[in-house]
Amino acid sequence: MSRGWEMECVRRIEADVQRSADTHLVPMPWPGFPGITLYLKDESSHPSGSLKHRLARSLFLYALCNGWLREGRPVVEASSGSTAVSEAYFARLLGLPFIAVMPATVSVQKQRAIEFQGGRCHLVADPTQVYAEATRLAREGGGHYMDQFTYAERATDWRGNNNIAESIFSQMAREPHPVPAWLVCSAGTGGTLATLGRFVRYGRHATRVCGGDAEHSVFFDHYLTRDPALTLERGSRIEGIGRPRVEASFLPDVIDAMVKPVDAASFAAMRWLSSRLGRAVGPSTGTNLLAALACAREMRERGVQGAIVTLLCDSGERYRDTCHDLAWCQAQGMHDAALERAVHASLNGGAESPPWRLAGVLSAARSSS
Ligand SMILES: Cc1ncc(COP(=O)(O)O)c(C=O)c1O
Repeated sequence: MSRGWEMECVRRIEADVQRSADTHLVPMPWPGFPGITLYLKDESSHPSGSLKHRLARSLFLYALCNGWLREGRPVVEASSGSTAVSEAYFARLLGLPFIAVMPATVSVQKQRAIEFQGGRCHLVADPTQVYAEATRLAREGGGHYMDQFTYAERATDWRGNNNIAESIFSQMAREPHPVPAWLVCSAGTGGTLATLGRFVRYGRHATRVCGGDAEHSVFFDHYLTRDPALTLERGSRIEGIGRPRVEASFLPDVIDAMVKPVDAASFAAMRWLSSRLGRAVGPSTGTNLLAALACAREMRERGVQGAIVTLLCDSGERYRDTCHDLAWCQAQGMHDAALERAVHASLNGGAESPPWRLAGVLSAARSSS
């Protein structure tokens, strides 16, 4: 184990931080909700294109400082999406081979995005075997399995170090409502929600945290029941969020409310926001927007003004051939014109609720299942 090599790796990562600017916070007036301003934390502007740039950086520093990485040895991850793209970016920065283990059904576009960052894609026929295969490849290659689902909440410094929550609060400092009423994000590993929930408690802020969940995922029901054994036969249809099993980095005790819209509603919200911003956002940002909508409706009902901050997790450019292609959505049975109109009406301030489930402080009488 060469300490000199480890030190050089840490220097390179810190230099990468120094070269990079923080991601923007974009205010978006919400005409249907007077006195409530929505802010989008635009994580698509990171060098590797998504919120996972922060997590990948933290995971590499955590593994390095635990002495888990070896010069020239592979880093392996079980991921087909944003995390693999961002981890490939940092592996290349450190001169390490990177292998992303994923189901064989993953789109060529996503494989290209990982290969563009210098990574290699290892396909498996049975999606449930990705974790075991990643462990095997790391062991046989004398490398390290990064395991985002286990280490996301441990590797991230939730007290500061420019984590996403600290960045949001410092960028809100000169806004009319510097302390947001709500911070809103959906869960993939659960690491981002864990950081938001811990930071607001550590900072003694009155801000509440709301989590979004995908239709085919266990997080919402785990939040309701705390049953750790919940599983589902199938995976989520929203890239990056929703899980068929309860993940170690999902911490329900730091979440004040959850919102679970149907996937077609998340796609409708993704299109509503893309047209307002004049650029395409990813589907998990659509789920975030609907969770933020539930928070705005709760504030409007109580006659409260203030700020809601949610994440623009990644760009819609990655989904040109999938959820930003209406024919593809129709073919997947995930487009319904009437539902699309209803979701847009509610985002424009209308009284109708989108098809969603609510939990925590948002639930009470407002749940419309
Ligand atoms: C596009 C996208 N959105 C949201 C998330 C959720 O982030 P987290 O893993 O911190 O829960 C992910 C996670 O992979 C993602 O890729």
